[in-house]
Amino acid sequence: MAATTTIEDARAQSSAGALGAAPVAGAVPVQTGKDTRGLLSLNDFDRAGRRFLPRMLYGFVAGGAETEAALRGNQASFGSCSLVPRVLVDTSGRSQATTLFGHRYAAPFGIAPMGVTALCAYRGDLALAQAAAAVNIPMVLSASSLIPLEQVWQAGARWFQAYLPGDLPRIAALVDRVADAGFETLVLTVDIPVPANRENNVRNGFSVPLEPTFRLAWDGITHPSWLFGTALRTVLRHGMPHFENMDAGRGPPILARDVVRAVGPRDRLTWEHLAAIRRRWRGSLVVKGILSSSDAALARNAGVDGIIVSNHGGRQLDYAISPLRVLPAIVEQAKGVAVMIDGGVRRGTDVLKALALGAEFVFVGRPFLFAAAIGGDTLVRHAAGLLSQEIDRDMALMGVPDLASLASQHIASSTVSLS
Ligand SMILES: Cc1cc2nc3c(=O)[nH]c(=O)nc-3n(C[C@H](O)[C@H](O)[C@H](O)COP(=O)(O)O)c2cc1C
Repeated sequence: MAATTTIEDARAQSSAGALGAAPVAGAVPVQTGKDTRGLLSLNDFDRAGRRFLPRMLYGFVAGGAETEAALRGNQASFGSCSLVPRVLVDTSGRSQATTLFGHRYAAPFGIAPMGVTALCAYRGDLALAQAAAAVNIPMVLSASSLIPLEQVWQAGARWFQAYLPGDLPRIAALVDRVADAGFETLVLTVDIPVPANRENNVRNGFSVPLEPTFRLAWDGITHPSWLFGTALRTVLRHGMPHFENMDAGRGPPILARDVVRAVGPRDRLTWEHLAAIRRRWRGSLVVKGILSSSDAALARNAGVDGIIVSNHGGRQLDYAISPLRVLPAIVEQAKGVAVMIDGGVRRGTDVLKALALGAEFVFVGRPFLFAAAIGGDTLVRHAAGLLSQEIDRDMALMGVPDLASLASQHIASSTVSLS
């Protein structure tokens, strides 16, 4: 009898190929090897990060503000949203490649900006940038990063996130530096007028500036892989890390007493400053930290190209509404502006839910930082591959051949308020 190949066989072969590192069409390949064992989904990186990092650093990354209601709300919002699949649709040629600001990315997600990553991961910003460039997804370099932005550009980063004080000369100088370095997209984060109240940092002894204490030393000694592989290796090879990218010039070292003063008065930043940035910055301009549809309309009128609907991963205002819940209302106000979202995205199904509710793109934070901390750029690529594979599988299960066909009909209206 002639051998026949069913559709399932073909998919199984293609999926087995993907596990062996051959890419599924349009998707990010999964890395294999002993370092990736047990890391089957993005949530696994949290558990591995908890083991690897000193308590104070794990708490800094994983934690949120005050009661952590906003943090929990982000995942809960995805958890309570149900999908409605369509069947008997030919999805065999499906692709998750997504165009954003004129660039064709391999997947509809990127790496959210995260500060002081080089404290958690050896040369963290470089590892994240290299991995993202290798798999063709965007990585947003944080203003609070510890490696000069020019070097991270060399490693492949093209998006820079600024924290700006309400001070026009400082704004102009930083915007010019970012432009001169060659960045294409500027993200202005607007949900941090004052530092957040993160009690877990106080309890664990984590502060900026870092206070060298016995407790800190003990936390390091009991996590030797981090102590030798990240902390001491960084200081021996590159010296004490500085805040490199807050301003046009180099900022203070992480142990400096005047770090907070050096940041400047962010609670004076207003829509007028955004308008000034728009006049000066020629690339794509994105505002991150919008949760109100009225603010989305103001941002659109200010001429931004994109909005990231975000509550900063539950790290700023506690009880801030979850981005997914306000997404439909914001999409309605933001016509012509690319709407993106972050906060609690951990699964391919989360990505599809956000896209079905009108987002064009999503960003993921913590899992990528844990991945970089434990295994550098290889594990970051692995994490991206896992999420991409889930998206690919879920597209077939949802009956969507391309992401543009995702719509509110794919979401059970009883589980989310559709405007
Ligand atoms: C350790 C850490 C540092 C962060 N630093 C910044 C930052 O410098 N700038 C910024 O705009 N957002 C920052 N964020 C927020 C992320 O960009 C993003 O909004 C959030 O992490 C998304 O939620 P998720 O971690 O649940 O995916 C940080 C988040 C974490 C976890």
